[in-house]
Amino acid sequence: MLNLGVLVSGRGSDLQSIIDAIKEGYLTEAKIVVVISNKADSYALERAEKAKIPAIFIEFRKRQRLDFDKDMIEVLNKYKVDLVVMAGFMRLVTPEFVAAFKGRIINIHPALLPSFPGTHGHRDALAWGVKVSGCTIHFLDEQMDHGPIIIQKAVEVLQNDTEETLSERILVHEHDQLPKAIKLYAKGLLDVRDRKVFIKKEIPGFKEWLASKKKK
Ligand code: GRF
Repeated sequence: MLNLGVLVSGRGSDLQSIIDAIKEGYLTEAKIVVVISNKADSYALERAEKAKIPAIFIEFRKRQRLDFDKDMIEVLNKYKVDLVVMAGFMRLVTPEFVAAFKGRIINIHPALLPSFPGTHGHRDALAWGVKVSGCTIHFLDEQMDHGPIIIQKAVEVLQNDTEETLSERILVHEHDQLPKAIKLYAKGLLDVRDRKVFIKKEIPGFKEWLASKKKK
């Protein structure tokens, strides 16, 4: 069983997609053992508490970035986390944090990296006038939004799209693909060679899970 530590900052719908995928019997290989937020008022912490998952706020303001990261590392190790999942976590982590969980941190970004990295993926994609955007799930490395890509999903940008309407359509795919990426990792099916991630074999059950969700 893979122990997940999920880092959040906001609403937590990506976190919820992992909680639901486990509850629905799709993601049977993993368990969320702790959720950490840098924001005390993050609704994601309430989602964790509702799901009876330890939900921990760590203050980041007026602190050295490294001290904050050391606190996170301590909590993640206390809960014996195997894989760190950044699900709407709006902080840059230090190289020390990346080194502490080398190859064991994944992030989800609401744009098709390497386009539009950073905290305003939707805004930047719309401003540029792209016709396609989407989401990227990738391993974290020492640079922001830069690590080897595990999964991407493209979504058409409509002419009258706003950040809200575009993010809403992309989130649907985020919520499908994030549990799938975790499942692939948990089953040892991700083979990272330099910048490239090879999926050793597809896993059955994804389409059936999506169909079962639609029926709800
Ligand atoms: C998602 O769009 C994710 O891609 C980005 O931040 C957003 C988090 O949404 N990193 P939520 O807090 O999980 O609802």
